Amino acid sequence: MTQRVEKARISDATEIHRLVNYFADKGEVLPRPLSEIYENIRDYFVVRQGGRVVACAALHVNWVDLAEVKSLAVVEEHQQQRLGDQLVSACLKEANELGITTVFCLTYRPEFFGKCGFTLVDKSELPHKVWGECYRCPKFPDCDESALIYHAERNA
Ligand SMILES: CC(C)(COP(=O)(O)OP(=O)(O)OC[C@H]1O[C@@H](n2cnc3c(N)ncnc32)[C@H](O)[C@@H]1OP(=O)(O)O)[C@@H](O)C(=O)NCCC(=O)NCCS
Repeated sequence: MTQRVEKARISDATEIHRLVNYFADKGEVLPRPLSEIYENIRDYFVVRQGGRVVACAALHVNWVDLAEVKSLAVVEEHQQQRLGDQLVSACLKEANELGITTVFCLTYRPEFFGKCGFTLVDKSELPHKVWGECYRCPKFPDCDESALIYHAERNA
């Protein structure tokens, strides 16, 4: 069956919530309340199969020329099929269309993002603006995620 990356619709929100919080329970991504997914539904990309969302990711704009890839999740049975790579590419393409050349992520999977063209940086290099939602993180202030940045002009 063909699997395509598409922009999320509002009807995907509960499936995105289920998928993200499944991996959040395993400590692999941060949990997201359903209300936040509804409010930010335009950020999300999904891959659907048989009425289910089997993979998702979000591009969230933080500031002038800065956006974040968030909530990347691929169900186990569809991992290693390049869905993660395609979702990150969709986020980077949208950032480019918006005129944003710098995209970052905070992740427990730095090797995966490295393969997508991101470079490991010290967290202190990220602008203060990005830490706004960290106060709501259960791990704050002991963040053990890695920070990586993608610069479009360096990857052109
Ligand atoms: C991490 C995750 C998004 C990867 O998605 P995926 O669809 O399985 O990955 P892809 O098939 O697109 O892999 C692309 C490349 O990354 C590699 N890769 C995939 N998962 C990896 C991992 N955990 N560590 C290192 N490399 C990884 C693949 O081998 C492939 O390499 P190649 O280009 O040399 O062939 C997926 O495993 C996942 O959802 N995990 C649970 C949630 C999570 O950890 N999310 C990320 C936190 S922000």
